[in-house]
Amino acid sequence: MNILILTGAGISAESGLSTFRANGGLWDHYPVQQIATPEAFAKNPALVHRFYNERRTALKTVIPNPAHKALAALETALTAKGGQFTLVTQNVDDLHERAGQKNILHMHGELNSIRCTHCNERRVFTSKTSVDMACEICHHGVMRPDIVWFGETPFFMEEIEAALTTCDLFVSIGTSGAVYPAAGFVNMAQSLNKDTLEINLEPSEGSNYFNQTRLGKAGELVPQWCTEILQGL
Ligand code: OAD
Repeated sequence: MNILILTGAGISAESGLSTFRANGGLWDHYPVQQIATPEAFAKNPALVHRFYNERRTALKTVIPNPAHKALAALETALTAKGGQFTLVTQNVDDLHERAGQKNILHMHGELNSIRCTHCNERRVFTSKTSVDMACEICHHGVMRPDIVWFGETPFFMEEIEAALTTCDLFVSIGTSGAVYPAAGFVNMAQSLNKDTLEINLEPSEGSNYFNQTRLGKAGELVPQWCTEILQGL
């Protein structure tokens, strides 16, 4: 069996990290155009650094929840039996890694990474960034959060398309389906006649495209679903 998972902010909500589009979510407090675009970084880099510094600091106060752990355990069990498991996440937190997930693609980048605006050199960085951080490699650019902003191309698109082509089952967990290209993965899976499942607190924008939808908390529904898959292996 070959499973492809897509996760969004909802899977980390029960760990204590805010989602984006809920009432009182991150984009309620910070207008997205002032934070998550290259233009916003050019106009007010200090504000953008402060936003991602707060998110990076919050990471240190949270731990993986049962949904992250169940997916990591399922990957281990499935690959031990010769199956394949790919996890694509829109999340920039590191909770999947900390739960033990191995094959993971961060399509929107990572909080614990910074990137040069000039040479694109990336490096692990876990403390606070600021406007005056020059690139130590090329000495021309400044370091920016290693996040894919609106108007930029997500990472790993070729790998994700290949995984969509070869998977048997596509499962979307904890995402509103509001942001493309991730929101369109279910349509790609559907056109390739893949089985599709959505697990979310409420129907996502693309809910009708899934073969099956399970509504509720990821921390409860994901472990249940993983147990069902494990029993069938
Ligand atoms: P959203 O905030 O848009 O959606 C989160 C989804 O998770 C919603 O549909 C919630 O109903 C659901 N949810 C909340 N708590 C849940 C729980 N305990 N269990 C299951 N589901 C739950 O977040 P994303 O869809 O991840 O991009 O947003 C996609 C992208 O938009 C993000 O990666 C980010 C944002 O702008 C960038 O910053 C580039």
